[in-house]
Amino acid sequence: MSPNEAHSRITALRSEVAHHDERYYRQAKPEISDFDYDRIKRELAKLEARFPQFASQESSTRRVGDDRSEGFVRVKHRLAMTTLDNTYDETELREFHARLVKALGVEELAYTVEPKIDGVAVSLTYENGKLTRAVTRGDGEEGDDVTANVRTIRELPHALKPAEDLLAPPLPEVIEIRGEIFLRDEEFRRINQIQEDAGEALYANPRNLAAGTLKQLDSKLVATRCLEIVLYGLGACEPAPTGFDSQSSFQAQLRAWGLPVVEKFWAVRGINAVWASIGELDAMRRGFAYATDGAVVKLDQFSQQTVVGYRGAGQAARKLSPRWACAYKFAPDRAETRINAISLQVGRTGAVTPVAELEPVLLAGTTVKRATLHNADEIARKDVRVGDTVLVEKAGEIIPAVIEVVMAKRTPECVAYVFPTECPVCATPLVREEGGVKWMCPNPECPEKVRRKIEHFASKASLDIDGLGEEVVDLLLTRGLIKIIPDIFRLKIEDLLPLKKSGEVWAGNLVNGIAARRTTDLWRVIHGLGIPQVGAASAKDLARRFRSLDALASASLNDLVQIEGFGEKTAEAVRTWFSNETNRVLVADLQAAGVVPTPPVEAAAGAVLAGKTVVLTGTLPTLSREEATALIEAAGGKVSGSVSRKTHYVLAGEEAGAKLEKAKTLGVPVLDEAGLKALLG
Ligand code: IVH
Repeated sequence: MSPNEAHSRITALRSEVAHHDERYYRQAKPEISDFDYDRIKRELAKLEARFPQFASQESSTRRVGDDRSEGFVRVKHRLAMTTLDNTYDETELREFHARLVKALGVEELAYTVEPKIDGVAVSLTYENGKLTRAVTRGDGEEGDDVTANVRTIRELPHALKPAEDLLAPPLPEVIEIRGEIFLRDEEFRRINQIQEDAGEALYANPRNLAAGTLKQLDSKLVATRCLEIVLYGLGACEPAPTGFDSQSSFQAQLRAWGLPVVEKFWAVRGINAVWASIGELDAMRRGFAYATDGAVVKLDQFSQQTVVGYRGAGQAARKLSPRWACAYKFAPDRAETRINAISLQVGRTGAVTPVAELEPVLLAGTTVKRATLHNADEIARKDVRVGDTVLVEKAGEIIPAVIEVVMAKRTPECVAYVFPTECPVCATPLVREEGGVKWMCPNPECPEKVRRKIEHFASKASLDIDGLGEEVVDLLLTRGLIKIIPDIFRLKIEDLLPLKKSGEVWAGNLVNGIAARRTTDLWRVIHGLGIPQVGAASAKDLARRFRSLDALASASLNDLVQIEGFGEKTAEAVRTWFSNETNRVLVADLQAAGVVPTPPVEAAAGAVLAGKTVVLTGTLPTLSREEATALIEAAGGKVSGSVSRKTHYVLAGEEAGAKLEKAKTLGVPVLDEAGLKALLG
């Protein structure tokens, strides 16, 4: 490569990295996988090393990504927060060890091997044992003050537990403790379900959602999402630490202070033992609460860390990454397959999402047949075409996504994909979503939107109408028997009879099933309306607060923000929805069609579970989840999705998993079904 070529390649790579840094660190919406990002960055670093004349302090290889955003107070770290050198390669890991052996003159060095948590880095400051501040990494020197949001993390003690032993060293006056904020998969899925119910865009993986949540300006909204934290690193400490002098003894100290720490770490000697531990970690990491994308290998002794120091620690340059640590990253689960077709889904809100219909392929234990292509811009950026061979990956090991086209396998028949300009269902010209990347069908009468709205209204999560599933809704729509939601309640047996051969029983059951749900919980009706941002939990909050559709319809923005856990965005969405004339008519029409929403029973003062939170897990011997929930709510309790110190009981059945484990660790009382019944008398 000539210097000229190198220069233009370096320039191109730098702007590419800068673009992805912006997406990842500031917007928490990465477009490419970590693996691909690391590859680009590595190519850039290699070229800069080969052509030092083009090296620059401004290059992203010489800086850590910057996460700082508008609206937060900026705070300087006492000790800079650096990043780590990454490798996917065993040889490079052994070279890391060889460098340390050479620098320190010791053969069998002591290391710790820890999970590399795929979360969002934060630095906590405890002053004389009290939590005073939480700051994001920012540019490494200075980050955003996210203390209010971090304080919503239930597992995080606001005071360090002092030692019981009087001779133990006192708590430091000031200590920075570094860690990672994350969301559990189940919490990620819970929030995404709410997003989906509300017709909102889904988050790609738990890390993005955690990063997005931490950067919310409204800590009330943050409190509705169960962020968690794990701590592993030491920043500044004044006076100098006593009681720990190594990474492994620091881990023990963190635990003794009562802080959440990694589930497992290894303290070993020599690189072979390090490599063996990484293998053990890889075998067990899928059982951890957080996504683990690698192993962090650290020289154990702080004194040795000080000797080897940091890269980039020259006079003017800032510290870059420690020479005493290295991240070995696990390659993501990927598979190669063919795109048979690109289909378009029109959602309840009108968003048109392209989906790749794949030749079925096995990926991380499940068969993948479809993968999201996100949106038109993404298809164009990756130049994805029908007939292409592509790599699919489970982003954050959850939602399969098409990562890239295997260009070498492209055949001449593959023609560029043209995203339609009209709704694939009703042919209305699509419009670009305000401030977003989605194309939307703006037609309120688009049959697909209508179908999805009716399906949602009848679904288990809303009115739960027996016998009114997707197929039947489809049938009723195509035969013109229903056009809008309230039509459901006007169906007569005679209308249905012609639809099926000897369909008397079916028609009778369906009409009865619908009639049975005329009188239904208010929250189910609210949820069924499909108000953007309003999932089942918010619908329950609204039902508890307003107790009727009319009261809800005339609630002011101020009334709405008063509800615990309601951010401005949700409040505004509710307001906007009810100020739309068509929606008001819909609500009136439902009531005219005989729908009687019933407000929640107010638990008698002194009810057994008043003010108590219960988490359900596993399968109970006789009660369904819904029945158990109803019993708990009738006794004044609230059912919540995840276990924390604030949980009062965990109700556990057969095959209870992580939630039961967590209850035990936190000392939350565990009930079985019999125990619940006894408690309720
Ligand atoms: S130690 C001096 N240990 O990964 C840098 N980092 O890609 C010390 N991370 O910046 C970092 N798990 O945000 C360390 N067990 C662990 C980690 C960990 C996740 C993050 C951290 C770091 C990034 C580097």
